Amino acid sequence: MSPEARLDAGTLARLDRLTDGVPYTHPPVCHLLYRLVRGIDRPRVVEVSCAYGKATAYLAAAAAERHGSVRAMDLVEHRWQDRTARQVVADADPTGCCQIDLGVDARWWLLDLLAESPDQWIDLAYLDATHTVEVDAFLASTLWRHIRPGGLLIVDDLDWVPRTHGDPATEYSRPDRSHVRALFDYLAELDDVAESLEWGRDRVGWSWGFVRKAGGTEASLAEMIAAAAPAKPRRSWRDVLRALRSRKRPR
Ligand SMILES: C[S@@+](CC[C@H](N)C(=O)[O-])C[C@H]1O[C@@H](n2cnc3c(N)ncnc32)[C@H](O)[C@@H]1O
Repeated sequence: MSPEARLDAGTLARLDRLTDGVPYTHPPVCHLLYRLVRGIDRPRVVEVSCAYGKATAYLAAAAAERHGSVRAMDLVEHRWQDRTARQVVADADPTGCCQIDLGVDARWWLLDLLAESPDQWIDLAYLDATHTVEVDAFLASTLWRHIRPGGLLIVDDLDWVPRTHGDPATEYSRPDRSHVRALFDYLAELDDVAESLEWGRDRVGWSWGFVRKAGGTEASLAEMIAAAAPAKPRRSWRDVLRALRSRKRPR
């Protein structure tokens, strides 16, 4: 392991401890987000929405190390064991580079943020929000417009389908379609897209979409992700048999 990878592993283990049990984003995805942000100089990161601050802690830790900043928000001031996202993130972000706004609708929040900074400035945006096409479509296309050349838009929930995962009391316009997948497919076809890919199904049983804007000098997405989230080594048949033999037999 290189000295840098060892340093990352130490930081990630600390972040895992700080956010242990906090919903929602899976740790391997948080690790990937951390490493992608760590690869950017003075990263400017946006997260919509942050819930209890699980992914935010990793984004903020990476941005702090690279002298960048994170803007995150949520409609609700969620609490996990009495800690809001701000408290979850505080220990991960010694520099205070992460600003979290709670109790605000993402559409208004984004309009305010982008009115302040109207250029293409976002290095990485993580969109994990409302589970309705009506809101998420606005958020995805608005974020995309302000991603800088070579920057990344990451969307969670490609596999989220209202009839299976939604609230039974809510009426959805297309209950059998994943609107996030439809948005991802739409974004992937835009003229200013360098490349797009899905990741996560093999690793954590759920899919995220990655879209990179044209015009940057970064490595390919596949290379960036392979470097940031190396595949787990496959176990040989001999290892599997050994593990099965060593399992205790029921009495
Ligand atoms: C799956 S959670 C986000 C998880 C978070 N990114 C993480 O890593 O743990 C989705 C969040 O979207 C928020 N949300 C729903 N509608 C919203 C809206 N209109 N504006 C802002 N946030 C919204 C919910 O309160 C919820 O916390």
